Amino acid sequence: MEKTGNGKRENWGSKFGFIMAAAGSAVGLGNIWRFPYLTGENGGGAFIVIYLACVLIIGLSIMVAEFTVGRRTSLAAVGAYKTTDRRWTFAGVLGVLSAFFIMGFYPVVGGWSAAYIFKSATGLLSDPAAIVDTFSAFTANPIEPILWMLGYLVVNVIIVSKGVKGGIEAAGKVLMPTLFVLLIFISIRNVMLPGAGAGMEFLFKPDWTKVSGGTFLAALGQAFFSLSLGMGCMITYGSYLNKKESLPSSALQVTIMDTGVAILAGVAIFPALFAYGMEPAAGPSLIFMVLPTVFAEMGGFGVFLSIIFFIAFTVAALTSSVSLLEVVVAYLIDERKMERKKAVYGTAAIMVCTGILSSLSMGLMSEFKILGVVVFDFFDILTDKIFLAIGGMFIAIFVGWFMKKEDLKDELTNGGTIKFGLFEIWYNLIKFVIPLAIAVVAFVGITSIEQTSLMIFGLAIIVVLAIFSKKL
Ligand code: PFF
Repeated sequence: MEKTGNGKRENWGSKFGFIMAAAGSAVGLGNIWRFPYLTGENGGGAFIVIYLACVLIIGLSIMVAEFTVGRRTSLAAVGAYKTTDRRWTFAGVLGVLSAFFIMGFYPVVGGWSAAYIFKSATGLLSDPAAIVDTFSAFTANPIEPILWMLGYLVVNVIIVSKGVKGGIEAAGKVLMPTLFVLLIFISIRNVMLPGAGAGMEFLFKPDWTKVSGGTFLAALGQAFFSLSLGMGCMITYGSYLNKKESLPSSALQVTIMDTGVAILAGVAIFPALFAYGMEPAAGPSLIFMVLPTVFAEMGGFGVFLSIIFFIAFTVAALTSSVSLLEVVVAYLIDERKMERKKAVYGTAAIMVCTGILSSLSMGLMSEFKILGVVVFDFFDILTDKIFLAIGGMFIAIFVGWFMKKEDLKDELTNGGTIKFGLFEIWYNLIKFVIPLAIAVVAFVGITSIEQTSLMIFGLAIIVVLAIFSKKL
């Protein structure tokens, strides 16, 4: 194996720390912001059933695969692919590019969320009728959201520059349990509202008439996004894991937590929406427009709930964006032999630029379109609808067809010291079922969504990477 990296590789301090960091990466805007609005737009329960199937059959297996590749090679995504088979370097590079793209819009929403903690405490809810306009005016402002985004990025930089154990793990261990407690508190409060039953029914009773080809791609893309898969993030986190922990059980725990929080976020939001007669299909603004309006109806206690909610939301976002930053930083450390701090500052500097463009695309630059969409949507749609699912397909093909079955078994059973009874099932899923399933869903989905030129552009990027990144 080629020697890469700077010799001393960092490791997680404990199993709990690793699980919290990985769950921290998984649980984020995807669960609290995107999952509820996708569920709202796609007919509630039916979307949840399809989503759960994607998570259980595809997501969980891919997470096991990513952990396995990461720990086997002790390298982040690019190095992990490259040292095993040079022709696959592009799949790792695609992951690094995806991290940049997701970080093109993620800190903007993270900044909004941080701003809403402050706004909730300073009178946002006192005039419920103004809440919708406040959000539009705030996001369209050329300065205020950018300042919040910069503040949010600075916290990311501080955490990631402290390293794996002292920064990412330490933050995850405190922030994740905090998030669980806050969300459970809000959920319990909201299901007790009079009229909340209709929200629970919407969430859990499938309406199959709302399902189309696009629904499957939305569910699949969401499963990858939410579980932080398809871009080497879990390869990177797995690469810091010692040889004693069980990979399948770690993946299962992370998946359960991630799915649990998504459902919990649904329960925290929909019952209250229905109780106050609001629109469940409000789209991305659901969290920032509809929810504060719901909280405002509750009076003084609503202000308190709103503050707690946005703290939870910011915390969830932070532990995820930290992992996105780490994907790029780990690549620079492993492959470009950079020092951690330099890698963090350099990467964050680029993210500041993309973040500013994304933020401005909500106002000043809303007329500036790339292939028919504003900058924010460009980063979002490309990653969510195409890069992650295709990246997931690559990892499945790579593990199933380019790694030795004995090596996989050895890694998944810790050298034969623990049992993994489902190995054969997992292996066949990864080798045959999942690549095919993703190909079908991606094809049907990509052809059924409107942004055809954007999709073609995305596929072209992948082809270009495949041709040129062998030299990296
Ligand atoms: N899983 C995160 C969320 O649900 O918000 C987003 C994310 C983090 C995606 C890290 C991909 C990733 F590598």
